[in-house]
Amino acid sequence: MCGIVGAVAQRNIVSVLLEGLRRLEYRGYDSCGVAVLGEEGPRRARSVARVTDLDEQVRESHLDGITGIAHTRWATHGAPVTDNAHPIFSKDELALVHNGIIENYESLREMLRDKGYTFVSQTDTEVIAHLVHSLYNGDLFATVREAIGQLHGAYAIAVLHKNQPHTVVGARQGSPLVVGIGNGENFLASDALALAGSTERFIFLEEGDVCELSLDGVKISDRDGYDAQREVRQVAAYGGAVELGPYRHFMQKEIFEQPRAITDTIPQADSFDPSIFGDDAQTVFGEIDNLLILACGTSSYAALTAKYWLESIAKIPTQVEIASEYRYRESVPNPKSLVVVVSQSGETADTLAALKHAQSLGHKHTLAVCNVGTSAMVRQTELSFLTHAGREIGVASTKAFTTQLVALFVLAATLAKLRGHLSAGQEADYVKQLRHLPAALNSVLALEPQIIAWSEEFSRKEHALFLGRGLHYPIALEGALKLKEISYIQAEAYPAGELKHGPLALVTEAMPVVTVAPNDALLEKLKSNIQEVRARGGQLYVFADADTKIVNDEGLHVIRMPEHYGLLSPILHVVPLQLLAYHTACARGTDVDKPRNLAKSVTVE
Ligand code: F6R
Repeated sequence: MCGIVGAVAQRNIVSVLLEGLRRLEYRGYDSCGVAVLGEEGPRRARSVARVTDLDEQVRESHLDGITGIAHTRWATHGAPVTDNAHPIFSKDELALVHNGIIENYESLREMLRDKGYTFVSQTDTEVIAHLVHSLYNGDLFATVREAIGQLHGAYAIAVLHKNQPHTVVGARQGSPLVVGIGNGENFLASDALALAGSTERFIFLEEGDVCELSLDGVKISDRDGYDAQREVRQVAAYGGAVELGPYRHFMQKEIFEQPRAITDTIPQADSFDPSIFGDDAQTVFGEIDNLLILACGTSSYAALTAKYWLESIAKIPTQVEIASEYRYRESVPNPKSLVVVVSQSGETADTLAALKHAQSLGHKHTLAVCNVGTSAMVRQTELSFLTHAGREIGVASTKAFTTQLVALFVLAATLAKLRGHLSAGQEADYVKQLRHLPAALNSVLALEPQIIAWSEEFSRKEHALFLGRGLHYPIALEGALKLKEISYIQAEAYPAGELKHGPLALVTEAMPVVTVAPNDALLEKLKSNIQEVRARGGQLYVFADADTKIVNDEGLHVIRMPEHYGLLSPILHVVPLQLLAYHTACARGTDVDKPRNLAKSVTVE
């Protein structure tokens, strides 16, 4: 997704800007660009290839300067062509980069055309550039403040003007933006990660903030235009670039990192203590009588799995909603709800907006399950649980998902205990199972060679069905999502009992049917569903717990999982599905870590 980097320094900052873009590359983008201020005004280089190509252009054109902005673009308005790449100029005097979407750009464009501005791109960004230019009064900070009053939508911007050679102005509303504080130099970025090489001191701007970076300081005003003091946070954890090591792709590496990520995420204590969610958690948990979980994509499947846990262990009614639906739906607020947002990045625009919507409806109790401690979601919720997956580079989420499951299981067990539904013996059992989980995961990862053998077959297919039941239905959904995201094979998931109500019509010899088969209370029902597929000549690919006694037969291909792992079984069963998607995509030769059209952190609606 789009990324912003900006800098004001007493040295040539082009390498800082390009390094920042490199650090944001993994999020997905289709063009990139950089602009610096020279005596004649801004100069720029733009590319519809990778940042390395931009780097070459910069060298060839000797682009250098001490004030600059840079961008990676993920196209929303207008194709990924050079004219639409940022920085966007206005009258060769002002340069601007933008993340997000401006909803009223058409009316603004008409107004600016009437004022004599010519549009050379199809972007909504160009209206912001011309708008700021048209209002410029010698003070870029004040002008940007005035201009954003006319914008509707979500945005983070960085802008520079020829007349202020040592100034970069930024503003945010709905998209993240952080200021990096250096010594005699200051930076701006859409993610602190972009500035990891330059500073460890950050200000996370708040909604409606406008900032001005100069050589000797940073000025910030809040949404009402008043001077604002924002906390400077020391964030050292961003470290250097993540290495691929012996793996072929980051996705493979991240699948194999799951035992470590889960070990780091499981709370240290040998009991379920609410304080892990925040100091006020015990009080908050005592005031709620239901949960509303909001999330998107893979995170929403973690939430769906959690619904089964929360209702069966903690006996607490739980509703899961896709964030992008919830935010626009008329719903009935319940002040006794705990609103939980689940997000790897903590910056997903739809989930953030859904959180705000829930708060605006009067929900005061909120909790974030998130992998990024400094993210907007963690900052905007009352309670939080941080997963410790580490940075996830592959666009398709893997270790973030399984660590979210761990976090949500801990939430279910904690609520069960507080509500009197967890005996001391059960508590000890759950803690023991959590502690043993990394070892159990290692035994599942050891199945990789068998999964590679299946993936050859899958790589020649164009469609696949995934089946699961109960607690494992969301795992089937996640398996299908992984396969479609990275191999581009159309894959659908159904609760196995639903097969005969429609999707069975799709089953032929050409349709592989992947089945998640744990040895749980629904096993006998699932076996009947398997027979329904076999009777129609379908080819079943079953991940069966060792104790299910499901074995290879005609039309029935089985990979034996370890013995059934009780309520935590979904965390084991998703791993072979991740590996199947991964190796199928490799066999098809797709760009596994950066699948087409997708971005890592979806910061636009
Ligand atoms: C799929 C995937 C996405 C994300 C979704 C939400 O592999 O990664 O479906 O899960 O975009 O992202 P977060 O969790 O960052 O809110």
